This record gives sequence, structure tokens and C-alpha cells, in this order.
Amino acid sequence: MIDSYSLLRPWLFCIDPEKAHHLTLTNLDRAQRWGLLERMVSKPIQDPQTLCGIEFPNPVGLAAGLDKDGKHIDALAALGFGFLEIGTVTPRPQPGNPKPRMFRLPQAQALINRMGFNNDGVEACVKRVRQSQFWQSGGVLGLNIGKNASTPIEEASKDYIFAMEAVYEIASYITVNISSPNTKNLRDLHGEEMLRELLGSLDEERKSLSDRHGVRKPLFLKIAPDLDHDDIHLIADLMLEFGIDAVIATNTTVSREAVQGMEHANEAGGLSGAPVREASNRVIKALKARVGDQLPIIGVGGILTGNDAREKIMDGASLVQLYSGLIYRGPELINECARALR
Ligand code: FNR
Repeated sequence: MIDSYSLLRPWLFCIDPEKAHHLTLTNLDRAQRWGLLERMVSKPIQDPQTLCGIEFPNPVGLAAGLDKDGKHIDALAALGFGFLEIGTVTPRPQPGNPKPRMFRLPQAQALINRMGFNNDGVEACVKRVRQSQFWQSGGVLGLNIGKNASTPIEEASKDYIFAMEAVYEIASYITVNISSPNTKNLRDLHGEEMLRELLGSLDEERKSLSDRHGVRKPLFLKIAPDLDHDDIHLIADLMLEFGIDAVIATNTTVSREAVQGMEHANEAGGLSGAPVREASNRVIKALKARVGDQLPIIGVGGILTGNDAREKIMDGASLVQLYSGLIYRGPELINECARALR
């Protein structure tokens, strides 16, 4: 797999990106089921890190969105990640935006997507997680939750609470995703009044879930890269006030500055890959300056090499996650990053 990805990539890049995505994951599942995958990838790097009471076997994770429904957990786990984040899942199933909704910008090693939280709903996801070997054997699995498109933004808390309750028992940690640009008004939840209301409701609900289950599950908040210094300070202070355990920085950007004039640059959606790296790192640095060691940071956005991963750690992140880099570099990137961070 490692060397074969560079041979496979030109073929995959001839296919529609969403079809290529499904084709790759379906074949990865097959290879894993037939016991081939372990022989094709190099041994996972052991570099345990403890964060929020969780032991991560290594600091390189899968970012949310690649396996929204938990359909490919065991195959993805076999690639050497230290942890997987599944989702975004919403309370009710929803189809997402009309296709096409995923675009490659190879010149920039970037993607634009406007998937719109297409998913089978939280209950279906929980069922699949329970069936996975990875979960049964205690692998670190984050569950990323969001709101349905049809839920008015003023009632967003209800959806997050519903989803949090549904995933509470099975998740190693729960990520509250307020930063997708593809659900109308979702990013308004970064504003003080709405964020205060959301984090307050989640904090209360978590307290009652902690009592009920006898365990306090870590709650992470995933934020956007398109924030100024004041926004970042405000959000950081609210996260501390409401006991958020870690922050994931960042989601995709709505900026097109870095890809102007390129094919697909004007497609609506979130831009990921190399062009979001600088903005993500800027957010990580600003968060670190504000929160110091009080709130761990998980760095994501534009990691295409081991060096990019190291840069995020230098800027203040404790763990990293990958998405677009996997499309451009293949699974080789996972161990490259883990080696760079060891
Ligand atoms: C994403 N991302 C994402 N994030 C999230 O929290 N929930 C989601 O459902 C999705 N869906 C999604 C789909 C696609 C096609 C892409 C490319 C990305 C964002 C992702 O997790 C990550 O934060 C950004 O892509 C930045 O990292 P990379 O891709 O530059 O490594």
C-alpha cells in the first residue's frame, strides 16, 4: 500500500473525488478483511501520549469527515493511526448537499468540500462502532457531533445534546463541531452569546451523563481557522469557563486567497490541505498564547509532511490529525508524521 499509493494516485485522480473516496475505502476494507493490509503497511509507531486521561498510542490521528458513519473503522485503524475521529454525525440521518460536492485542487495540494454532514444518523453510527474490532479492543475513538441542517440554529444545543447522549458510552472523547462552513449559520456558534449558551448546556448535560455512567468523558471543541485574535481569545476563555477538555484547531477555511485563479477555486465550501496550514497554525499559536497548558490543542489543517506535523507541535499542539494529506500522500504520511514527532 505504502509504495503502491503513488502508483494508484493518478488512477484515483481520474475518477470523481467522492467516487474515488468510496472506492478506496471499500478496497481498504477488503484488504483488511482478507488480512492483506497488515502486510502492506509498515508497523504502527508506538509513542504513547496521555492527554485528558486518554492514552494515545501515538500522536497522529484521523481527522473527522473521512469516515463519517464509522463504516471503515477497522481498516483505517490498521493504517497506523494513534486514534480515529468518526463523524460528523447528526441526530437524524440526512443526505447532505447535492453532488458534486468534493473537488481536488492538485496544484495547491488542496480539496474543497461542501458535503453538508451527509450521514446515516447517530444511532446507526453507534451500532457500527460497537461492532468494530478496534472499539472492542479499546482503541481510541473520538466521536464528532453536529446539528441537522433542518434544525434552526437557535435550537442547535438540542441536537448536540441528543448526539452527545447517544455517543457518550462508546466515545473515548466527544468533539463538538461548530466549524463546518457547509451547514447554514453553523459558524455563528463561535459568537459569544451562542457559544456561551451551547457550552453551558453541554456542560450541564455532561454532568448528568457523568453521574449516570460513572465516568466523565472528555469534551473537545473544533473551531474554524477564519477567526481573528479577539475571537480566539473569547472562545479560549469560554472553553476554560465551561470545562472543555481540549480544542481541535482547525476545520476548513472559507478563504480562497491561496488558490485564486485555480480550477474549482470558486466552488462553495471549505478549503483544506496545504492552503489552510498557515491559518490553522496561526490559530494554534494564538490559542497557546492565551491558554498555556490549561487546555490541550489538537492541530489539524494542511499537514502534508512530517515536518508540517512537527511545526504544529512547535506551535503548541499536543496531537495532530490528518485528512487532505492522506489524499495526496497516501497512508505513508501517517508513519512519516509519527516518526517526525517521536
Ligand atoms: C472535512 N472536515 C470535517 N471536519 C469535521 O469536523 N466534520 C466533518 O464532517 C468534516 N468533513 C470533511 C469532509 C471533507 C471532504 C474534508 C476534506 C474535510 C475537516 C477535516 O476534519 C479537517 O479539519 C480539515 O480538512 C483540515 O485538515 P486537512 O484536510 O488540511 O488535513
